[in-house]
Amino acid sequence: MTHKITVELGARSYDILIGENILESAADYIGPLLNRPKTVIITDVNVAAHQLSRLETSLAGANIAFESIILGTGEQTKSFEHLQNLLNRLLELRLERSDTIIAMGGGVIGDLVGFGASIYLRGINFIQIPTTLLAQVDSSVGGKTGINTDHGKNLIGAFHQPNLVLIDVTTLETLEMRHIVSGYGEVVKYGLINDEPFFSWLEQNGKLLLSGTTEEKRSARTEAILRSCQAKAAVVADDEHESGARALLNLGHTFGHALEAEVGYNDKLYHGEAVAMGIILAFKLSEKSGLCPPEDVLRVERHFENISAKNINPFNFDVDHLLHHMRGDKKMSSGKLTFVVCRGIAKACLSNDVNMDDVRSVLEEAVRG
Ligand code: GLY
Repeated sequence: MTHKITVELGARSYDILIGENILESAADYIGPLLNRPKTVIITDVNVAAHQLSRLETSLAGANIAFESIILGTGEQTKSFEHLQNLLNRLLELRLERSDTIIAMGGGVIGDLVGFGASIYLRGINFIQIPTTLLAQVDSSVGGKTGINTDHGKNLIGAFHQPNLVLIDVTTLETLEMRHIVSGYGEVVKYGLINDEPFFSWLEQNGKLLLSGTTEEKRSARTEAILRSCQAKAAVVADDEHESGARALLNLGHTFGHALEAEVGYNDKLYHGEAVAMGIILAFKLSEKSGLCPPEDVLRVERHFENISAKNINPFNFDVDHLLHHMRGDKKMSSGKLTFVVCRGIAKACLSNDVNMDDVRSVLEEAVRG
């Protein structure tokens, strides 16, 4: 069964399709969006090894011509250098303004290709085929695109909405468990922001989603992705450019980005792992600020422990460095940091008057363990 959610953005509205083995019929969904039967797929080496032929077979079967560009994996691919190479390649392939490109992969590929699509010939259409849990529940939906620089993550980019998001839950089955647990942080986020029944559902079903039988995993993953995308689509439709409520989706990210920056954006700490740690820190900060009852903080910590999320302690972070990274965050406004804090589970709100001494002590306590 294929589920459909529409991101309602007027003339730029688009569908998110979620199902099992949807890749085999990808051409049925992609074909009608193409101006001519020609496209370019951009992916990474890992996805190329496991999933690319499924998409290519479907396109070939529908007589859609394609080129596949295969990039390296990891955050380092989201760079000016790779962006430039990608744009030059698209120019060599003589892609026209009315053509559509396809980003097939995780958040790195989606963000890089989406940004490339936003500036190539002043903007062309693109389709997201996210293949990691993180990309399926968050980064492929909503049009945030961009690259990293030495100054920080995602500091250069554009809002550029895709024209379609195709989510095949079976692509998760060739990923290492660490990738799934990492993306799970972004799933939990939706429950913790404003959906207590979803958080309770995850407390019951989180383990099945991660390591049940194939049938159990597929069904729990489909449900979790569906509910996450429904939440994200509603937020994006309401506040596309993050002038208000969309910022709640950054729960855990101000802390998380600082942790990632300190590690150096590499495989020692995946984005979703940093976000999960950041969510716990955001709850502890909320407790310290007198907002959140301690039992809710414990419930969140216990849930992440139960699914064996990575712990902050072994990293031995330097708190001064982390605070320095936080001050470089793009969510600074008039010199103040905006934090997502929680008055309890499913009661997230924005605050720009958090006491930085409280932030420091939360970090010190977490790092000491
Ligand atoms: N990942 C947060 C957002 O899309 O707004």
